[in-house]
Amino acid sequence: MTFARIAGVGGYLPGEPVTNQDLIARGVDTDDAWIVSRTGIRTRHFAAQGVTSSDLALEASRRALAMAGMEAGALDLILVATSTPDMIFPSTATILQAKLGNVGAAAFDLQAVCAGFVYALSVAEKFIRSGSHKKVLVVGADVFSRILDWNDRNTCVLFGDGAGAVVLEAAEYPGILGTAIHADGSKNAILNVPGQVSGGKVTGDPFLRMDGQAVFKFAVSILPSVAQQTCDTAGVSLDEVSWLIPHQANVRIIEFTGKKLGMKPEQVIVTVGEHGNTSAASIPLALDAAVRDGRIQHGQKVILVGVGGGFTWGAVLLRF
Ligand code: ACO
Repeated sequence: MTFARIAGVGGYLPGEPVTNQDLIARGVDTDDAWIVSRTGIRTRHFAAQGVTSSDLALEASRRALAMAGMEAGALDLILVATSTPDMIFPSTATILQAKLGNVGAAAFDLQAVCAGFVYALSVAEKFIRSGSHKKVLVVGADVFSRILDWNDRNTCVLFGDGAGAVVLEAAEYPGILGTAIHADGSKNAILNVPGQVSGGKVTGDPFLRMDGQAVFKFAVSILPSVAQQTCDTAGVSLDEVSWLIPHQANVRIIEFTGKKLGMKPEQVIVTVGEHGNTSAASIPLALDAAVRDGRIQHGQKVILVGVGGGFTWGAVLLRF
């Protein structure tokens, strides 16, 4: 039987941290105390003009490949979770593939907004388990700064840009112990970018729109339950899980999820304060931070849990 294990992780945040005070200096009508008390966010990073999701993905991927001790040419599948692709087509995954110098791997994008990384990791694991692919690069990369309305203080203070990557490879013993992914399309209106390109023009609204309270309520209702479901299906008790890595949208949602699952605050990886919400990149960036600072050790069990527009949600239980 073939299983999938994580061979390397990598993350990349562009430029210098941008503080809440910096946003005020740029003309956003907000205050530091409001942002920190409602969300926990103190800084975020923004990609410079012209820098795309694939550029951020490239840096994160190189770091993950280096940790795995693998050449890009060895990859046989490249999956990019993003809602801010470089172009309408081709996929950001193929653009990343060219930048990495890989020829021949299958490459495609996956769109599940902030749940994109857990979706992509679940899909990658299935490819490896089926025996069809052996070395898979899974990336979450987003430049949400491109779709923010700087006059909408309800949303523009929440997000940042970044990328995180994982190299998965076939193994005799399971690294990924269980996955669960779900969606409820009837909730697509509470978080979306409704515009589209048609006839050479953007038609409709090209900015991110959100009903913050509805998102909050939905996120806290499904994150604990999908984490529990994934552990139950894998036959693993939550007591055996050392680390929780939730999607990094808001510290209050993260703390609620940890408490509900009976995790101690120090078992919950929190990067939203420094990264903001980087959408599909948030979970792999948090994973990368906790691996590189030595908190997550080989052999420990980690549960990743994400939620995003659609609405989409899911979890991945892994042994690092
Ligand atoms: N700075 C200062 N004041 C603000 C700001 C801001 N940036 N934004 C809103 N306010 C004001 C509002 O205008 C309102 O003032 P008013 O009462 O005078 O009209 C007041 O703050 C309260 O607004 P609410 O919308 O009621 O604030 P709430 O307590 O719901 O907090 C928040 C808003 C932080 C967005 C919250 O709803 C939330 O955390 N929701 C979850 C959303 C989220 O995390 N989204 C991430 C993307 S989704 C995802 O990743 C899955």
